[in-house]
Amino acid sequence: MQIGRVSLQNGLCLAPMAGFTDHAMRASCHAMGAEYTVTEMVSAKAVCYGDKKTPLLARVYPEDGACAVQLFGSEETFLAEAARRLADGAAGGIMPLAFDINMGCPVPKVAGNGEGSALMKAPALVERLVATVVKATTLPVTVKIRSGWDSAHINAPEVARAAESGGAAAIFVHARTRTQMYSGKADYSVIAAVKQAVSVPVVGNGDVVDGESALRLLRETGCDGLMVGRAAVGNPFVFSEILAALQGKTYARPDGEAYYHAAMAQLAMRAREKGEAVAVRESRKQMAMFVHGFPAAAACRARIHEASTIAEMEECLSILCN
Ligand SMILES: Cc1cc2nc3c(=O)[nH]c(=O)nc-3n(C[C@H](O)[C@H](O)[C@H](O)COP(=O)(O)O)c2cc1C
Repeated sequence: MQIGRVSLQNGLCLAPMAGFTDHAMRASCHAMGAEYTVTEMVSAKAVCYGDKKTPLLARVYPEDGACAVQLFGSEETFLAEAARRLADGAAGGIMPLAFDINMGCPVPKVAGNGEGSALMKAPALVERLVATVVKATTLPVTVKIRSGWDSAHINAPEVARAAESGGAAAIFVHARTRTQMYSGKADYSVIAAVKQAVSVPVVGNGDVVDGESALRLLRETGCDGLMVGRAAVGNPFVFSEILAALQGKTYARPDGEAYYHAAMAQLAMRAREKGEAVAVRESRKQMAMFVHGFPAAAACRARIHEASTIAEMEECLSILCN
C-alpha cells in the first residue's frame, strides 16, 4: 500500500484516539509492528489561533513510524491554513507523512458543530475540503470516515468517492455509523463497498483485536490495510500478533515481564515529553489496560488510578513480574 511517497509493507496502522495516541503510544505500537500511526485529532482552528497546547498534539517524532497528523474542522480556510502551518513546522518535530481529515468523531461538541462525523452528511463539502487541503500542502491528504450517519444513511462509498475526487491519497473506514458511536458490531460489508468504489488505498477499521479478527477483516473486505484502535491500548503487542498471523506464523503471547517493560517504556517516554506529573496522570487508563487479564489485576487497577509518581506506577505494575 502506498500513501504518498511512503510504501507500507504490512499495512498495519494504529488508529487515532484522542487522549491515547500521543507520541509514547505511537512509538510503542510502531516498535511492535504498526507501520503507520496517526496523532490524536487536532483542531484546525486551534492551530490557526496559536493555541498553546496544540503543538504537542500535532508533533511527530521519528520513533512514531510513518505518522499522519489528524485535523478536524469543517471550514476550508482553517483546514488549509492549519495544514500549511504544520507543514511549515509550527508544531516542531519532524514532517508528518500526511494530513488526515477526521470525518468520524461522533461527540456532540464536534459533530454538533458540523465537524467530524457530521461531514458524512455532506459529500460535496468533503470533496471541497479535501481539494482545498491538497492544494495547500505537498503532503498527501487522507480521510477517516464512518459507514454513514445512521443505519438509514450508509453512504461511505459516496463519501469515499467524493474524497477521492478531491484528491485524497487513501481512505480509512471505521465501519460503524455515527449513531452507533463505538457499540454494536462493525459492518465489514461497508468497507468492501468502499474498496469497490475507489481506486486509492482503503484501510479497514473496527473490532480488530487479534490475528484472527485481522485476517477476517482483510478476507471479507479485500481492503489494502487495517487499523487497530482500542485493542492496542495497553497491548502494543497486538501488532506483533497480527503481523505473525499475516505471515502465517504461530504467535505466543509475551509474558507479564514483557508487558511490564513495555508499560514502563511507554510511561518513561511520556514523562520525557510531558513531565512526570502529567505523564503519570495521562497514563493511568493505559496502564490499567496493561495489567488487564493478569492475576490480581482488579486490585492493581484501583492503585494505578491513585498513582501520582513513576515510582508508584512502577510499584503497581510490578505485579506483572510475579
Ligand atoms: C477513546 C477513543 C478516542 C478516539 N479518538 C479518535 C480521534 O481522535 N480521531 C478518529 O478519527 N477516531 C477516533 N476514535 C475512533 C478510532 O480511531 C477507531 O475508529 C474506533 O475505535 C474503532 O476501531 P477499534 O474497534 O479498533 O477500536 C477514537 C476512539 C476511541 C475509543
